[in-house]
Amino acid sequence: MHSGEIRQKFLSFFEKRGHKVVSSASVVPANDPSVLFTTAGMQQFKPYYIGGADAVKDFGSLNLASSQKCVRTSDIEEVGDKSHLTFFEMLGNFSFGGYWKKEAIEWAHEFITKELGLTIDYVSIFAGEVNVPEDKESEEIWKSIDPEITIKKFGRADNFWGPTGEEGPCGPTTEIYVDGIEVWNIVFNEYYQNKDGGLTSLKVRGIDTGMGLERLVKVVQQTDSVFETDMFESLIQITDSRIVADHIRTSVFMISDGVIPSNTDRGYILRRLLRRAYVHARKIEAGTEVLNSVAAAVINHPSYRNLYSFAANTKEVVMGEIEKFKKALDAGLKQVEKGEDPFILFTSYGLPLEIIEEVTTVDKEKFERQMEEHKKMSSVAGEQKFSAKVGGSANPEGGKN
Ligand code: SER
Repeated sequence: MHSGEIRQKFLSFFEKRGHKVVSSASVVPANDPSVLFTTAGMQQFKPYYIGGADAVKDFGSLNLASSQKCVRTSDIEEVGDKSHLTFFEMLGNFSFGGYWKKEAIEWAHEFITKELGLTIDYVSIFAGEVNVPEDKESEEIWKSIDPEITIKKFGRADNFWGPTGEEGPCGPTTEIYVDGIEVWNIVFNEYYQNKDGGLTSLKVRGIDTGMGLERLVKVVQQTDSVFETDMFESLIQITDSRIVADHIRTSVFMISDGVIPSNTDRGYILRRLLRRAYVHARKIEAGTEVLNSVAAAVINHPSYRNLYSFAANTKEVVMGEIEKFKKALDAGLKQVEKGEDPFILFTSYGLPLEIIEEVTTVDKEKFERQMEEHKKMSSVAGEQKFSAKVGGSANPEGGKN
């Protein structure tokens, strides 16, 4: 089954069950300053969960379904393994008081086992923690569907989702595992979490489900990793580097939604992805034209026709940034070859340690000591903020994978 068919099957399945299919929102959230990128399908629907907007008025239905473009870079170090990506599509069905656990679980089970013909390894439910009780209702529903099913129970770290950013709707989850991978996360939005972490009950209970399309396609197509699915085929034909394929793909989607490389916020994340892609291409002795070809392959992918309209601009932004970076890196490395301390790659060229380590030999402890010194000496607050981000400790996006 082709990925396009799987996506369509999901949307049609829920359309037939009373859902209005809604287009993906931009990867740049329209009205949510609490996060830099759209990290989940529910994000564009946040106001409907908390009673701030009327879904019937806006969409003609309390129940919606979508395939949402998402960006999450908090697990960037894992990219290249079998299933982590910085950009992915999230299939989701949502309800704002229209239906509750029984329908959500029964439909998920039906879609996975009947529509896709997959076997569920096990499911997990919320075990109960502090002031949120164990989810006995979901346990009963799963048992009524399949008395043999394995049900595991976990606490807040695993089976409770949200909010995205500092506050918002959240709740216990039930998750479906196939071939050892969590494919579907079904969230029962019953609570609103305040900035101080306190929970209050939402007036209307909501359903928010999320299923990463790339992982689902991997499971359906029985490939070893997401990179062998049809979603990555044309990219991996150009380069074996999964990091290059992933990072350029994410960059293309960011740029087509209006992000430009810079030293702050979204622009910095884009810059970091493009630089990382270049450094990895360089490591395997691939020229910059490979990055251009991968960008073209993303743009030409049959699933993403709407990227065409931005094609020229996107490629220009990708290549402009990479050429600029290449020049700076070459100049910096030349200085290091001549005997300068690799720390100048940070002070003069703004390169983070993770990239410097890829391009030259660094004494990590010494580098970190130099970094401490540098921070102490720097009296400019803005610069301190930048170096904290360069250190990779910031996770400004929120959301968990
Ligand atoms: N919001 C949940 C997630 O991102 C389910 O859609 O996993």
